Amino acid sequence: MEQTFIMIKPDGVQRGLVGEIISRFEKKGFSLKGLKLINVDRPFAERHYADLSAKPFFNGLVDYIISGPVVAMIWEGKNVVTTGRKIIGATNPAESAPGTIRGDFAVEIGRNVIHGSDAVESARKEIALWFPDGPVNWQSSLHPWIYE
Ligand code: PPS
Repeated sequence: MEQTFIMIKPDGVQRGLVGEIISRFEKKGFSLKGLKLINVDRPFAERHYADLSAKPFFNGLVDYIISGPVVAMIWEGKNVVTTGRKIIGATNPAESAPGTIRGDFAVEIGRNVIHGSDAVESARKEIALWFPDGPVNWQSSLHPWIYE
């Protein structure tokens, strides 16, 4: 089953959105396979965003991610990478549809509340970076009510 990496950024934690965000993924029918509240240091944040190191906003993005604890999660389910990105909404909250997390809770791109892997391969890399011991192995008893 497909897995994705989801991170609630420091603004989402500080604003008390953790429960709301987890609830949206749970209610959809996805399964939580990893969860931790963690302060990351600059080298770790730079590793996570390594692909963006040449971007003008890179240092600001790293400053933002290390400014407070983040909630790192693994979510599992059919098409969870693509569907997770739809639940999150467009990167720039000015363009995120109402009903999405960013559409409902964010105003600008530099405080967009949440990160989600953009592809199955990046999800694999991000899960390996954030959860070196791998996901928690369990299956929800609701599985037969979500999948045919
Ligand atoms: S890009 O330029 O197309 O590669 O960027 P994009 O794919 O849209 O976004 C990649 C991540 O960079 C964050 N981002 C920014 N942060 C701060 N300021 C600005 N201007 C900015 N532009 C993009 C964006 O939120 C993405 O981070 P994650 O954590 O993946 O959401």
